[in-house]
Parts: sequence; C-alpha cells; structure tokens
Amino acid sequence: MIITVGNTKGGVGKTTIALNLAIARALAGKDVWVVDGDRQGTAQTALTIRAESGRTPMVACSVYSDGATLRSQVQQQKDKYDDIVIDAGGRDSTALRAALALSDLLVVPFSPRSLDVWALADISNLIAEARSMRDGLRAVAILNNADTQGSDNKEAVEALADYPELEFLDIAVCRRKAIANAAGQGLAIKELAPKDQKAIAEVESLYNRVFASI
Ligand SMILES: Nc1ncnc2c1ncn2[C@@H]1O[C@H](COP(=O)(O)OP(=O)(O)O)[C@@H](O)[C@H]1O
Ligand SMILES: [Mg+2]
Repeated sequence: MIITVGNTKGGVGKTTIALNLAIARALAGKDVWVVDGDRQGTAQTALTIRAESGRTPMVACSVYSDGATLRSQVQQQKDKYDDIVIDAGGRDSTALRAALALSDLLVVPFSPRSLDVWALADISNLIAEARSMRDGLRAVAILNNADTQGSDNKEAVEALADYPELEFLDIAVCRRKAIANAAGQGLAIKELAPKDQKAIAEVESLYNRVFASI
C-alpha cells in the first residue's frame, strides 16, 4: 500500500510521522520503502543515520523532489515493496501532487494552532483536485504536536468540520521531546532509550489506526 504523509504547511511533523510509520512497519517485518519528496531530504538523513549506526531493519529511502521522477520511480518500483511511505515535503509541489495521484491513503498531520488549522484549506483543495481525477484516495487528518492538557486539541478537531475532504482519525500525538529525539536518530519511538511510554502508546495507536484504515 502507498501512504503519503503530506500537508502544504511546513513544520507540522510530516517527516516525524512518516519515519515512525515506516520504521514501525519495517519492525513488523514488512519490506518498506521511504520516498522523500522534499529536497531538504530530512527523512533520508534520518534513515542514513539509522543505517550508519547499524540498526536493523534498515529502511530503504530515495529522494525525488521532482513530481515526474517521483511518479515514474514509484510506478516502476512499487511491486518490490510491501509498503511505500512518501514524505511529501511542504508546499504545493509537483512531488506532493504526484504522491496524491499514486497513494491509497493520505495522512495529514496538523497541530492544534489556528494558523495550522486554517492552512488545511490548501491541502483540502489538492485532495479535491486529486479525487476529481481518480477514485480511491482516502485522506485522514491526525493531530500532531498536540497539547497534553487544555482545550485547544478539541477546538482544533471541531474546526476540521470546515474541511470535509478530511476525515479525523481520532489520533493525537502530543508534543514530546522523545518523539523529536527518536526521529533525529532515525529510530521509531519504541526503539529509543529511555522509553517514553506515553509517546510509545500514542504512536502505536497512530500506527494501528493508519494501517487498519486501509
Ligand atoms: N510530536 C512531536 N513532539 C515533539 N516534537 C515534534 C513532534 N512532531 C514534530 N516535532 C518536531 O517539530 C519539528 C518539525 O517536524 P518535522 O517532522 O520536520 O515537520 P515537517 O516535515 O512537517 O516540516 C522538528 O523539530 C520535529 O522534531
Ligand atoms: Mg519534513
């Protein structure tokens, strides 16, 4: 299955979420390929650090920031892998559009801050455009960098009603240092020591919901 983690907004946790989904899937024994659609290549950097530290399983990663290349490479190579996770990068890029044309599922991380919620209008338009060209693109929003307390998470989820292209997956991954640290070392959250059990539980429910949803 092909999953894109995408949002035209930067800094919402696309790379962090894509790495966690991909590494957890590889730890579950699947052959996973990460396609980094962002020319900054941060997913690839993290997975290179993983490989150089000798962690197994290794997770293959390629960077294609150009939409036409991303599309043709994924079409040519998709049968070699159980799952492909595309980190689509920020902005309304050709890579993001190509990823939407290829994917079974789009996961849209957003944080419970007004500017992030309003910015969902952009990705909603791209989802509508992709759906006008073909059926079968499921699009789910998840809260990332969520608060551990207060009412902002709930308000942000209520505001999602303005974007009917997006379905809320009822997942909140909170802002936790362990999550940032793990991704920076090319590790899934459950591989990081010392273990942060709350972070592990949140990312595990994200993983279960995402892979159960298709
Ligand atoms: N759940 C989280 N908890 C703590 N830090 C996070 C979390 N998600 C993302 N971050 C941090 O936020 C910043 C942006 O995340 P990143 O995954 O690079 O976003 P994007 O790929 O959307 O630009 C990074 O410094 C990352 O470590
Ligand atoms: Mg990124």
